[in-house]
Amino acid sequence: MKYFNFKILLFFLFFSAAYAQNNETPQDFLKKEFHSERREQLRAKLPKNSVAVFFANPIRNRANDVEYVYHQDPNFYYLTGYKEPNAMIFIFKENQTIGNRTFNEVIFVQERNERAEMWTGKRLGVAGVQDQLGFKVAYNRGEFKSYEIDFSKFDKILFENFKNDVRDTRESADLFDLIQVFKEKVSFDLINLNNPTNDKMYNETKKRIDTETLQKLMTSLREIKTKEELVLLKKAINISAIGQLEMMKAMNPKMSETEAQGVHEFVYKKYGAEYEGYPSIVGAGNNGCILHYVENNKVNIGDNNLILMDLGAEYHGYTADVTRTIPTNGKFTVEQKLIYDLVYEAQEAGIAAYKIGANMREPNNIARKIINKGLAELGIIATENSKHNYFPHGTSHHIGLDVHDPGNYEKFEENMVVTMEPGIYIPIGSTCDEKWWGIGVRIEDDILITKNGPVILSTMAPRKSEEIEKAMELPSALNDFKLPKLD
Ligand code: GLY
Ligand code: MN
Ligand code: MN
Repeated sequence: MKYFNFKILLFFLFFSAAYAQNNETPQDFLKKEFHSERREQLRAKLPKNSVAVFFANPIRNRANDVEYVYHQDPNFYYLTGYKEPNAMIFIFKENQTIGNRTFNEVIFVQERNERAEMWTGKRLGVAGVQDQLGFKVAYNRGEFKSYEIDFSKFDKILFENFKNDVRDTRESADLFDLIQVFKEKVSFDLINLNNPTNDKMYNETKKRIDTETLQKLMTSLREIKTKEELVLLKKAINISAIGQLEMMKAMNPKMSETEAQGVHEFVYKKYGAEYEGYPSIVGAGNNGCILHYVENNKVNIGDNNLILMDLGAEYHGYTADVTRTIPTNGKFTVEQKLIYDLVYEAQEAGIAAYKIGANMREPNNIARKIINKGLAELGIIATENSKHNYFPHGTSHHIGLDVHDPGNYEKFEENMVVTMEPGIYIPIGSTCDEKWWGIGVRIEDDILITKNGPVILSTMAPRKSEEIEKAMELPSALNDFKLPKLD
């Protein structure tokens, strides 16, 4: 009987601890097993007798003593799961033995520091990266300077060239210091000075240092999404598409671009997405013709305009990229609808070409042909072969940890996620009939490549012109959201 009670107590304690933890922070981040498996995949691709070196992203200053919200370098995050600055990792092709330790990777991270943590939050520290991220060999960043590693024994030292906005914060062993010490240890300056002398050390160092290959290896990993990544990416896309739908319901011509942006971003936060994956683009009328418009400050979007909204939620690192263009008053004008439906037709035809083995440039070519033909039929250009600037960008890029995720852009492969985003932009003053001026349309969806053909992941956002008009008739919870007037 006693024994039975003890078991119940243990059971209760275990689950209440797990429940308390579950309640505090999201539990659906990538697991440490994902990151270590990705390191194994990279190791398998490394040349023999080599080491790959990665640095955390720099901290970036916003103004005075305020920094931008820190965001980890995507490659570093992909391989480690570590979200703090001032860190570096070495991934060795073969086992290394130093003293009595044998290992094939080592990470240097920020040390625990009670005072710093009081200001900027908890750090994982060495014990944290061992327990939570599964690193067997981890050191405080300050230990790198005296860390004994003979780089001259490697045939290849692979790293990406250093970012040029790494600040010297005068803190010891910040990223600036880590890079300086690394440069010394690998004699980087010897080759960087482009030493004209043909001496032996220069030539040997130059042979050993490789700042080109690592990006290619990382691209070959990151362009194909694992099932764990797809869970997060699909969530980011669904959240973004729901943001578009909510905006369609809430839109009214008295809104400002800023307010429209806020509606999307509120929906993201409501679902627990931490950031926007890139600066939100919300442009009404002629502003929709500026491809990466980010001012989003038109106060009155007007009654008869289109509003182009290109936004993506970032959920646990993975970012969507979804664009919808809708009429501010809920009904497309004749000209707006003609242009919108032409872009839609181009997008549909392009998506049909998202097939395993197909050339990744093909959807862009297909969309361009349809748009050129349509523009000529509408009299906006003279013939379908006329040169013009109404569709000045490509249609297809990978998404993932980056909104423009790395890719080789050769053939579509299973489990790639690629945007399809044709557009037509006719700014005021264009050399066509004035009735088209100020119309800017982009439709952008996120497509998963599968054995059974393309799967559009952003379907929660209505896309056909008729569906958009219908969605805009739906009531919005924001209709009742009244705030006091300010002077
Ligand atoms: N939002 C940037 C892009 O569509 O590529
Ligand atoms: Mn895009
Ligand atoms: Mn976009």
